Amino acid sequence: MANQALPKLRKGPVPREAFDKELDRVLASGVTWFELFSGSDIGSERSLIADRFVAEDTRVLDVGCGRGFFSFACAMRTESVTALDLMDGGGRTGWWDEFMKTSYLMGNSQRISGVRSSAVFLPFGRGSFDLVASIHAIRNFQSKDEIRGFFHEAINVLKEGGRLVVAESDLECPLNAGYRAMYAMRTKLGWELELPTASQMVRWLQDEGFADVKLETIETDLDYAPISFPFDETKLGDMKQEYQIATKLIREDDNRSPPVLLITATR
Ligand SMILES: C[S@@+](CC[C@H](N)C(=O)[O-])C[C@H]1O[C@@H](n2cnc3c(N)ncnc32)[C@H](O)[C@@H]1O
Repeated sequence: MANQALPKLRKGPVPREAFDKELDRVLASGVTWFELFSGSDIGSERSLIADRFVAEDTRVLDVGCGRGFFSFACAMRTESVTALDLMDGGGRTGWWDEFMKTSYLMGNSQRISGVRSSAVFLPFGRGSFDLVASIHAIRNFQSKDEIRGFFHEAINVLKEGGRLVVAESDLECPLNAGYRAMYAMRTKLGWELELPTASQMVRWLQDEGFADVKLETIETDLDYAPISFPFDETKLGDMKQEYQIATKLIREDDNRSPPVLLITATR
């Protein structure tokens, strides 16, 4: 399982070796993968979102499922989860395997179907889902147009009265300078998308015909979308100084994540 879903040894990136050692120790103590996920920062935040929107019979489409963290949280609550992602696009080689393996270890593989497709092409019939969610994924879309394209597709596959939920880090929040600085640096390197403003997304949703479009921010002390990882610093090019400043700010901030921005809309 991805190291981010583990309880933190400490805030910030954990060297691979230390992580493997800690994982062995935790598993040897009899803790299950399921417990590990539920106790992690990422698992807790995905569960917090799933708790609000997923009931026993909710048919969920998780768009940009990545390694499946939100899909797993949904599968603890409902039997029908469709997890969609480009998979292995954008340098994410191996994520599909990781997704399948973790799903098996978590014991929820019977409840989740994986579909390889794009957010701008949702290959399902009209009204197939009660909930379409995209959780901390739009930052990895190729362009703002793709986000609009996703909204356009989402309304079609939702049933009448069904809900769309988009979660992202609230980068408009003036606090969390370190997180924002690191995000800005990653954007310049092309590793994340420069996000549209929340009000821009609200307008796009209304233009698509969604009703009841709402914005909400949730404060958590969870490291739900880690922004600093150990990586090959030669890839930074002329962004080295910016990286050092962002790293310093993150340390000063104690690696705190911004509030979670939740956008909800109804078909
Ligand atoms: C940060 S990860 C997703 C996190 C995940 N939802 C979770 O709960 O942890 C972002 C994912 O978006 C996917 N992605 C990027 N562009 C996409 C697109 N056009 N359609 C579907 N998935 C896309 C990437 O492949 C990546 O797996």
